[in-house]
Amino acid sequence: MSKYPGEQNALGDPRWEVAEAARRIRQALTKMGLCYETKDGHLVEVSYSRVGLVGHEYGLLEVDLQRLPRKVTVNKLARRDTLHHLTAVVGKPVKKLNTTGLTYCVVLRPEPKGRLPKRVGLDLDTRPPGEYVIPIGQGRKGAVWRSLLDTSHILIGGESRSGKSTWLNSMLAALLNVYSADEVRLAIIDPKGVEFTAYAGIPHLATSIAEEPKQASEVTDWLMGEMNRRRRLFAGYFAKNLVAYNNRAGERLPLIVTVIDEVTDIALQCGLRSRFYTNLIRLASKAGSFGIILVLATQNPKAEVLNTLIRGNLSTRIAFRVATPTHSRTILGTKGAERLPRDIRGRMLARLDADLLELQGFLVSDAEILALVQRLGGGAVAPRLEPIECDLVAYAVEHLDGGFKIGELARAFADDERTSAWRIRKLAERWEQEGLLTKPAHATAPRKVTSRLLSLLDSQVTASKQSSS
Ligand SMILES: Nc1ncnc2c1ncn2[C@@H]1O[C@H](COP(=O)(O)OP(=O)(O)OP(=O)(O)O)[C@@H](O)[C@H]1O
Ligand SMILES: [Mg+2]
Repeated sequence: MSKYPGEQNALGDPRWEVAEAARRIRQALTKMGLCYETKDGHLVEVSYSRVGLVGHEYGLLEVDLQRLPRKVTVNKLARRDTLHHLTAVVGKPVKKLNTTGLTYCVVLRPEPKGRLPKRVGLDLDTRPPGEYVIPIGQGRKGAVWRSLLDTSHILIGGESRSGKSTWLNSMLAALLNVYSADEVRLAIIDPKGVEFTAYAGIPHLATSIAEEPKQASEVTDWLMGEMNRRRRLFAGYFAKNLVAYNNRAGERLPLIVTVIDEVTDIALQCGLRSRFYTNLIRLASKAGSFGIILVLATQNPKAEVLNTLIRGNLSTRIAFRVATPTHSRTILGTKGAERLPRDIRGRMLARLDADLLELQGFLVSDAEILALVQRLGGGAVAPRLEPIECDLVAYAVEHLDGGFKIGELARAFADDERTSAWRIRKLAERWEQEGLLTKPAHATAPRKVTSRLLSLLDSQVTASKQSSS
């Protein structure tokens, strides 16, 4: 029997834990002299304007800045040594949340140690209930999903081939699997022109997929127009967000998910005074409450481009492996992503709610995306490669480093009557259009074989092996 009635229930109860942490923190701050006594002997202490929980994991204590004891400043309350001391007193990590005021975050259930899987597929059947939930990654305690209504805008960084596009695809797959074009609209800017070609033609696209700076600029113009239209609509119903508007107006406006891959490159190409960039900054600061969510990805986290944009606006951050601690800081606000394992693609640090989680991103294959898109009735149908086309791709990969060099291919296949230099050139142009080859980086550079073309080749080679055995 416990000495105190109710103790056994209380110990595992996060509400009790957060109340207890709140009490200990206030007591510790008082002991540190961060309070004063009034003439009548009354003690003025630091008080909270809100004490709450995020799931069972975090307690949030919002300090009441209106009623701070005299001479007590936010600086003193949020200093590193103060936080250390509070951590010791509470016995659980106490951190500061980056908000306009001061909120202590008490980590009630720290991440358990243990291994993360190196590879994990996306199982859409495990989708938790909730509006617009998207998969973030597999954590040590299970799959982590969040609602786009809570994440608001998302920034994703990571070096080349670290898993950014795959993550974006897993997000899109989860949304498209559940929501019709009346419920979710997509605006996609893909400067590389190879990552999202599978989606071309699906009914969810609000605008066609933009690749050039000019088209990207037009997409942001359209979004600005839509945001302003929604601003007027929402005002008519005193609605502060999409859910409130949809409930009150009896009309369902779709959530608009704007995916911009390689955002730094396109911003630099357009220029930091361009309409594209100024639109982007306005959208980042205002569009969220109108149901327009930005999801920005970059392999080149340049502070000069991102700083103005992200300051306070892109609250959810995901960093795959990056080259330097500075890059990690630009994306996450803290170093650490430079130490993620290089050999595990899709490994990330995610800043969600209050904490930093190490997760393994879900792997979605091109074949899964193509199947989904075909089910949606639109999009690119997986083309079949002719045997000669398979041979050309295989040669480019084996001998030309993945470059689809027309001259060299023509020479290598000079005696092959199935093709000719002219046919190879036509094929290269068509495949570039279809997104199976990259656009040449400059006039004399070759087009490159994309991962989509490779997986087409792979699937066909395996299929023909199976049928011949
Ligand atoms: N979550 C994951 N699990 C396992 N493998 C992954 C994962 N994410 C990516 N990969 C592998 O890494 C490859 C590169 O991933 P992806 O194209 O998403 O990288 P990226 O960061 O978009 O690269 P880039 O900057 O060049 O566009 C994928 O083709 C896939 O084989
Ligand atoms: Mg990519």
